[in-house]
Amino acid sequence: MTKRVAILISGGGSNMVSLVDSMTSDHPAQPAVVLANSDQAGGLEKARSRGIPTEVVDHRDFKGDREAFEKALFSALEPHRPDIVCLAGFMRILTPLFIDAFKGRMLNIHPSLLPKYRGLNTHARAIEAGDTEAGCTVHEVTPELDDGPILGQARVPIFPDDTPDTLAARVLTQEHKLYPAVLRRFAQGDRTPVFL
Ligand code: GRF
Repeated sequence: MTKRVAILISGGGSNMVSLVDSMTSDHPAQPAVVLANSDQAGGLEKARSRGIPTEVVDHRDFKGDREAFEKALFSALEPHRPDIVCLAGFMRILTPLFIDAFKGRMLNIHPSLLPKYRGLNTHARAIEAGDTEAGCTVHEVTPELDDGPILGQARVPIFPDDTPDTLAARVLTQEHKLYPAVLRRFAQGDRTPVFL
């Protein structure tokens, strides 16, 4: 039975596209829904053009009431019967209420080599620290931000003339390879980390 995957986005959704396009007929998972927290998210049109059902739950409608927002997330996702949730550029902090409901079956991709650089501005921080390499991590989502069991990592060099933007672009190309590789393995129940 193929696993049904909900993908949550906030922006352009390039990682969502990589995941959706990777779920070909022989894949243990299929895309069930793409949900965005804004109807302006560019990824929505990319999902619709691929025939994927979409949902929008705008966090601004809940004026900081995280619990109400997450209940609306549940209501929007439930009809699509997700087995796995992939956060892909989803920029809202989720509370244990939502995270516990998908315990052990919610993934996130973070643009750093965790545990280094949890949180935001990861590329600027790596350059500032004088690191010679950077990368991305796919991990299981737990209540602690950017902290769950690591399911995959990909590394890229940092060059002396790199800016946060040039480094982000280099990391993003690896994200598009790593996340689909992790999802294919995870959907088969295999949590062996993928290292690219
Ligand atoms: C990516 O850098 C990802 O690592 C981070 O959000 C960014 C947005 O990517 N979580 P996408 O193009 O919206 O998938």
